[in-house]
Amino acid sequence: MREVFADRYGSPEGAYLVQAPGRVNLMGDHIDYNGLSVLPMALQRHVSVLYRERDDTTVRIASTAKVYPTREFKLSRPIKPFKAGDWGNYAKAAAQGLLERFEVGRGFDAVVHSDIPVAAGLSSSSALVVAFALAVLHANDHEEVERLELAELLAEAEHYVGTRGGGMDQAICLAARRHSASRVDFNPLRLTAHPIPPEWNFVIAFSLVRAQKSGAARKTYNARTRESREALAQVTKALGVAEKIDSYPLLVARRRTRDLLKAAESALDETLLRRFRHVLTEAERVRKAEKALAAYDPRGFGRLMKESHESLRDDLDVSCPELDELVDTAARAGATGARLTGAGLGGCVVALCPQERTDKVLERLTKRFYENREFEGALEDQLFVAEPSGGAAVHPV
Ligand code: GLA
Repeated sequence: MREVFADRYGSPEGAYLVQAPGRVNLMGDHIDYNGLSVLPMALQRHVSVLYRERDDTTVRIASTAKVYPTREFKLSRPIKPFKAGDWGNYAKAAAQGLLERFEVGRGFDAVVHSDIPVAAGLSSSSALVVAFALAVLHANDHEEVERLELAELLAEAEHYVGTRGGGMDQAICLAARRHSASRVDFNPLRLTAHPIPPEWNFVIAFSLVRAQKSGAARKTYNARTRESREALAQVTKALGVAEKIDSYPLLVARRRTRDLLKAAESALDETLLRRFRHVLTEAERVRKAEKALAAYDPRGFGRLMKESHESLRDDLDVSCPELDELVDTAARAGATGARLTGAGLGGCVVALCPQERTDKVLERLTKRFYENREFEGALEDQLFVAEPSGGAAVHPV
């Protein structure tokens, strides 16, 4: 990063380094945008931004990866997006969101480097948005901003790239605790950390199928958010409830899952029924998974992971053959449970492995999955053990 920086902008003297972690979600996928709680943890892999502030409003960004060309824009509203899918839009998303709320007069020259596999469901894009946002705030002396307030603002700001995502990724990226997973609640945003037992290993395996958040996967993702909202509207209408129920959290607080599913059977068509069932059962699995984690019950946790994968595959239709194969291979090799993680449609699986079986799982996945396939970069970038890490931070260099 220093070399690229020196090459483009001169000496990095007086520069700062922002590091924003990727994340793996252990339970609760495709429900955060419905306001339901989820259970992610931050990873030891980061998006890093080495930046030095400027006296004007120009932002210049370069990447250590050659596929991402240099980008430049000004911090003045409104910020017109680059064309759809351009990586520079993640920086613009952060900037546009912050400009709506804060006095921002100083831009920066920056170099970006990431060791989070891109478009792999480990939230490299939100980490990029968070890292840029922290650079903008730091360069403009706005360090007083609360982490959770910032997470909410950035979740909204990221819609700039076109995906109507929920708020999980920004929240865990900014407020994760080391050695822990966190239950993330929404409206208001809140995190409750739960230590991960040291003998539980979460293995992450990339399916080698990329799911670009700003590309094709966006359409399916946005369709799922629409379908789940539609299902909610139809079920509450069919229930004929007197009180106003306009959200999933209210619905599950007022009615039992079993009763809701019964009502849904006659109210919804086949597709919406499956979407609705995923949302409700996944929300319940988050509650149970949190308990299993607190009780150090790996078997219980693993069972829930298996059920979650089945639900994401069969009810939500967001798995793919490669993800199913990884889940299956991990389970056969002795993982306690495995599931796709994140938005799906490619990306990664996460497998819970007892310490004594972790090497075996890694070895089997390597042999059965990766040895027959071509991929860019090292095997350690596709297959690794997660280290539950802390949230994003700014350091002087
Ligand atoms: C993406 C979104 C998140 C969440 C997951 C699926 O990562 O950014 O908000 O919806 O998909 O759980």
